[in-house]
Amino acid sequence: MTAVKRLIETFVPENYDLFLDINRSSKTFSGRVTITGEALKEQISLHQHDLEILSVTLEGKSLNFTKDDANEAVHIAVGRTGDVALTVMFAGNITDNMTGIYPSYYTVDGVKKEVIATQFESHFAREAFPCVDEPEAKATFDFSVTFDQEEGEIVLSNMPEIKVEHRKETGVWTFDTTPRMSSYLLAFGLGDLQSKKAKAKGGTEVGIFATKAHPASSLDFALDIAVRVIDFYEDYFGVKYPIPLSYQLAHPDFSSGAMENWGLITYREIYLLVDENSSVSSRQQVALVIAHELAHQWFGNLVTMKWWDDLWLNESFANMMEYVAIDAIEPSWNIMEDFQTTGCPAALKRDATDGVQSVHVEVNHPDEINTLFDPAIVYAKGSRLMHMLRRWLGNEAFAAGLKIYFEKHQYGSTVGHDLWEALSQTSGKDVASFMDSWLEQPGYPVVSANVEDGALKLSQEQFFIGEHENKGRLWEIPLNSNWAGLPDTLSSESMTIANFDGLAADNSNALRLNTENTAHYITNYQGQLLENILKALPDLDAVTVHQILQERRLLAEAGQISYGDLVGLIAELTGEKSYMVAAGISQIGTGLDRFVDEGSAIESKYKELLINIFGADYARLGFEKVAGESDEDEMTREIVLSNLLYADHAEAVAKASELFEIHKDDLSKLPASLRGEVLRNQLKTAETDDLVEQYLKAYVATNDNNFRRDLALALAQSKCETTVARILESFKNKDIIKPQDLSMWYAFLLSRPFTQKYVWAWARENWDWIKSALGGDMSFDKFVIYPAMMFKTKERLDEFKAFFEPQLDDMAISRNISMGIKEIAARVDLIERQKSAVHAAIEEAV
Ligand code: BES
Ligand code: ZN
Repeated sequence: MTAVKRLIETFVPENYDLFLDINRSSKTFSGRVTITGEALKEQISLHQHDLEILSVTLEGKSLNFTKDDANEAVHIAVGRTGDVALTVMFAGNITDNMTGIYPSYYTVDGVKKEVIATQFESHFAREAFPCVDEPEAKATFDFSVTFDQEEGEIVLSNMPEIKVEHRKETGVWTFDTTPRMSSYLLAFGLGDLQSKKAKAKGGTEVGIFATKAHPASSLDFALDIAVRVIDFYEDYFGVKYPIPLSYQLAHPDFSSGAMENWGLITYREIYLLVDENSSVSSRQQVALVIAHELAHQWFGNLVTMKWWDDLWLNESFANMMEYVAIDAIEPSWNIMEDFQTTGCPAALKRDATDGVQSVHVEVNHPDEINTLFDPAIVYAKGSRLMHMLRRWLGNEAFAAGLKIYFEKHQYGSTVGHDLWEALSQTSGKDVASFMDSWLEQPGYPVVSANVEDGALKLSQEQFFIGEHENKGRLWEIPLNSNWAGLPDTLSSESMTIANFDGLAADNSNALRLNTENTAHYITNYQGQLLENILKALPDLDAVTVHQILQERRLLAEAGQISYGDLVGLIAELTGEKSYMVAAGISQIGTGLDRFVDEGSAIESKYKELLINIFGADYARLGFEKVAGESDEDEMTREIVLSNLLYADHAEAVAKASELFEIHKDDLSKLPASLRGEVLRNQLKTAETDDLVEQYLKAYVATNDNNFRRDLALALAQSKCETTVARILESFKNKDIIKPQDLSMWYAFLLSRPFTQKYVWAWARENWDWIKSALGGDMSFDKFVIYPAMMFKTKERLDEFKAFFEPQLDDMAISRNISMGIKEIAARVDLIERQKSAVHAAIEEAV
């Protein structure tokens, strides 16, 4: 494989004086950039992608240049080395693919409008202007812009506006010089925007911006969170937020979830705006996303990874800090539980498939950069490792180490070991050697715990689901046991701790490892150790019960224990449950669903089982929200209803229909936490063309993305061929389904047995279109990942192979194809081997 050429080896930029002239109506822009810096070679190179380069001059003299599209570069004959100021004139087109400079579309009061957005991470600044588009090439930016401006429209960028009078005369908006930063963090946004502003304690001006398609009140929640999170980070990191403003801007079209541009963070609307009718979980999600992007203002923006292989320095870290921050400002939310039910299972699942990437991973080709952002690895696993490290070092040493790290490296670039060095300084521990085994190796261990000949035996082995090659990898595992008398870590393959009875006598509870589930491993308790834990289960705290359910589920997925045993395990949990326990059962339920075919005799037994399990919760919580109830009750109810409506629980179904009737003239008024279930139930039990029509109309009319999501999930319940065909036709119609939402629809339709075959056929027939519409986009690989997550028959496995194997040389999806094949094969195999045992266990449980 050819390594990516680093252009910083030819030219080191110091400052970009960048001017853009944007024409929305013709979808074009032109620009001029004067780049000051040091030429290290007589011929230098800058990045550009699909730009027309009109001229390059040095001190008024034209220079020769050649465009090199294959390498996304322009080579310039400077003729000398040393300090230079090059001026490049250029032009480009504004395209819809949500990278570089792009339009974001919306409708307000029936009028179609657009705002202009930017998305430069990871390597799309080069679509907007020639630059050294590498994270290490930090420079300052002086940005100015003019556009076909209409009354009331504004421009935002990383820094405050300056020269306001000049703008009033000329229409050119000018922004103050940025700090030294990477090109991927530059941003602007323009259009008819509304805002709410407040000041953080340290004086930073915090603003929330969105189009006027949303009620002004939907900006309030984000403003309050952003202010308090900035206050928290300034305190925790011990370093002031470095620039005068922190703006959060929501875009109607947005490729990823949110983007941390310094001072001008951009968001998908669903991750910033919250109206009065919103669910607890959507508010928590918004808070977490804001805290994530704000963490990057230090971790990523102030100090940046040298190269993309250390992307985890940004993402794993921000993904951990979002939880630390929200837990600090809203302790009653118990937000760590959210990580236990989302990030943890995602990491534990994906990291168990052979062929998965490690958190720290080499990148040689730009096409590989996108694949780095694997949510389950660099985000979920990476942050799990950071939580593990924080616990191992203690919060104080951890925070003190961060302060040293920021002070030493601010406005500069680092590699992972720079962080370990700072943390070692404050903790006195050898952080590098502890973390290396976790970051450099793919996968994670399962620790077997057993009593043998009167001694406690602990051993580690890599945990796999599906076909694999065991390479004998070992990890330095923090045991974090609830018992005194055990060593802190297990580094060797196994160890024996003598006199188990003596240990047990000194400790009162059942032995547990990995308390609070902060370390990245699972435990396979055996014999009496397992019996003791299962006996104690009703008295254990919710996080622990959830952890045990999760671990047992993974062991069953791997074939290390019988899937039938899981049925017995959850069948006992018929009492009233906490959110965590309900979520753990529900995840096992998702696993069991695959053994139970729709309409089969065993399905009715299975439904009976679910009604037994969740009946007591329903009796306590009821169908509707109760005034003054806790957030946890609302979240638990969502799980309970989802299970009971699936199980055709008569009273719940009747209640859902009743609520639908009440709100049928304005479905958006259904309470958000119940809306999804009510809409889904109605389509499932009373599908008509009129109902489908009503849902589709509401989908197009609303600007509320949570409502859209609920409608999409409901429509995916359809059992009508023409409805499915109609939805699939809309995939290419941006006025109905936005490209940003295609992968969501794809997942919903793949998840239902009736719709799966149609959407899968559609994807294969329209692959070239998908690739051209989303090829450079973050969501592209989901078109491989989602079928791999859902297919469960030999027939689909063969189809998946036949279609994707010929594309194995496409680096953007190659790893996901080979992992996907293993994943589906493992599932097909598991169902074949365990189906009768699962059915027998269900029969027995009801
Ligand atoms: N830096 C990323 C956004 C990004 C991802 C840009 C991939 C380019 C390519 C941002 O900080 C991020 O992590 N966003 C998440 C949301 C977050 C709250 C987990 C995302 O977009 O999924
Ligand atoms: Zn991030």
